[in-house]
Amino acid sequence: MQPTVIAPSILSADFARLGEEVDQVLAAGADWVHFDVMDNHYVPNLTIGPMVCEALRKHGVTAPIDVHLMVEPVDRIIPDFARAGATEISFHPEASRHVHRSIQLIKAGGCRVGLVLNPATPVDVLDWVLEDLDHVLLMSVNPGFGGQSFIPSTLDKLRKVREMIDRSGKPIRLEVDGGVKPDNIGDIAAAGADTFVAGSAIFGQPDYRAVVAAMKAAVAAVR
Ligand code: DX5
Ligand code: ZN
Repeated sequence: MQPTVIAPSILSADFARLGEEVDQVLAAGADWVHFDVMDNHYVPNLTIGPMVCEALRKHGVTAPIDVHLMVEPVDRIIPDFARAGATEISFHPEASRHVHRSIQLIKAGGCRVGLVLNPATPVDVLDWVLEDLDHVLLMSVNPGFGGQSFIPSTLDKLRKVREMIDRSGKPIRLEVDGGVKPDNIGDIAAAGADTFVAGSAIFGQPDYRAVVAAMKAAVAAVR
C-alpha cells in the first residue's frame, strides 16, 4: 500500500503570496504541491506555467511538485516543465494526439508520469498504458475551476481503477482531484484512493494544519 499523500492545489492559494502559501501548507503537513496548468483552450480557464514552477523551486520548495496539465496540445510544454523542476507530470488523453508518446516524453524528462481521466472518460483508456504510469488521476469534477462539488460516481470509478492497479501488481498511485473535503475524504479513501488533491478545502480555511490533520485522520481511519 502506498503511503497517503495530501496534495493541496495552489489554484486556491493567494497568488500574490504564492511562495509563502506553499511554505505554509507544507509546514502544515501537506505532502505534495498540486500545480494546475490551464490554457483557456482545453479548459475554459488560464493559470500558471513553467516559469512559476521554476520560481517555486528557486524559492526553496523541495517537496514533490505534481503538475496537472490541462493544455492542448500537451507535448510542446512537457520538456519545459521537466526543466522547471516538476516531479510528477500528468495529462489528459483527450489533449494528446499520441498518448503513449506523451507518456514517454514525460519519462524522458526524468519525471514521474500520470494519466488523468475526466468524469466521463472511460477507464479502458488505461488498458494498454497502465503499467507505464506512476499514477492515475481521476477527476471528480470537470476540469477548469476550483470549488466545485465532488461527483459521486467517481467512487465507483475509483473502485474499478483500484482493481486494475492491484491486478497490475505495480506501485501505481491512485489520485483524486476535485471537491475533496474532510467530510468526504474517508469515503474516497475507502474506494481506493491514496493521493488526495484539495484546493478550496485547504486554502479556504485559516488554519491549514487543522484541515490537513483532519483529512489525514479521516483517511487513516479507513486505510
Ligand atoms: C480543477 C483542478 C483542481 C482544483 C481542485 O480543474 O484540477 O486541482 O484546483 O479544487 P477543489 O479542491 O477546490 O475542488
Ligand atoms: Zn488538478
